[in-house]
Amino acid sequence: MKIGILSSGGDCPGINATIRGVGKTAVSHFGMEVVGIRYGFQGLLNKDYTELDDRSLSGLLNLGGTILGTSREKPFRRVLDGSENEKPQIIVDNYHALGLDCLVCIGGNGTQKTAYKVSQLGLNVISIPKTIDNDVFGTDITFGFHSAVDIATEAIDRLHSTASAHNRVMVIELMGHKAGWITLYAGMAGGADVILLPELGCDIEKVNKTILNRAAKGKPYSIVAVGEGLELDGMQGNPTSRLSRQIEAGTGIETRETILGYVQRGGNPSAFDRNLATRLGGHATELIAKGQFGRMISLIDEQITSFPLEKVAGKLKLVQPDHDLIIQGKRMGISFGI
Ligand code: F6P
Repeated sequence: MKIGILSSGGDCPGINATIRGVGKTAVSHFGMEVVGIRYGFQGLLNKDYTELDDRSLSGLLNLGGTILGTSREKPFRRVLDGSENEKPQIIVDNYHALGLDCLVCIGGNGTQKTAYKVSQLGLNVISIPKTIDNDVFGTDITFGFHSAVDIATEAIDRLHSTASAHNRVMVIELMGHKAGWITLYAGMAGGADVILLPELGCDIEKVNKTILNRAAKGKPYSIVAVGEGLELDGMQGNPTSRLSRQIEAGTGIETRETILGYVQRGGNPSAFDRNLATRLGGHATELIAKGQFGRMISLIDEQITSFPLEKVAGKLKLVQPDHDLIIQGKRMGISFGI
């Protein structure tokens, strides 16, 4: 069998470990041929690919980014001028021209949707969820998330000392798109005093009250962790500057902001993410060998499993208000801004 593998959407730590997991299992265990398709679906449209063998699949386990490159190419997007979209047919033609028996798509939510549509074209597809955001429906956790939380937690740790030295409020914005997973996990692990999640919204009066209460108890410094997708003043996204201004105006305490940005997406995967990527990649190859296609590999209750793409594509996994970390945080006096 010959399989093609691509990474699509924003990169995250662990993609190379997944390519290695799929590729080495395919080549060494099942005797398959593997080609790497460059820059996601863009590479499939341009027949831009490279053979992957035992040599090129080595040295990837701890490497950040993706050796194949990635892009946000969405081949099923409607053409702006209303003309017919020829990309789906080009994908079918190139899949056959490359002699593929299956296409492995490593990606986040957008990629799961695209992978499902490619499978509906009659092609064999297996997808593997990845994203620092942890918002892919149908899996308990995506690789990349654990690594990003580690980095974000270290950033919050470092803000504590400078916040207390200056008696300031430090607002730190974390990634996650519409989901607050990184903010919740890094906020709790880093001991943030206020954690603001896009899923919960925020009442600025309550945030300021928490900060003033801390000051009254002899703690005139606070850390506020905020998810980038938080809606503030009816505007969705980029909340940090407005939030900082409103905290400073409402509390009278000097407030500074940090936007962690792409630092939390780059670099080496954690040990947890390396193993998760390896397990997902191995299971993907096993399904291909069995001829089971049109599925997304996932981790549920510590077990590697898979779901039909139609059941997961187009759905988001968001933080629920009754998440036990939120309940526990509230019990310990952490404000969630509501
Ligand atoms: O999905 C991962 C992510 O890093 C989000 O957290 C963030 O909103 C987005 O990608 C940034 O996308 P881009 O790479 O297009 O700037």
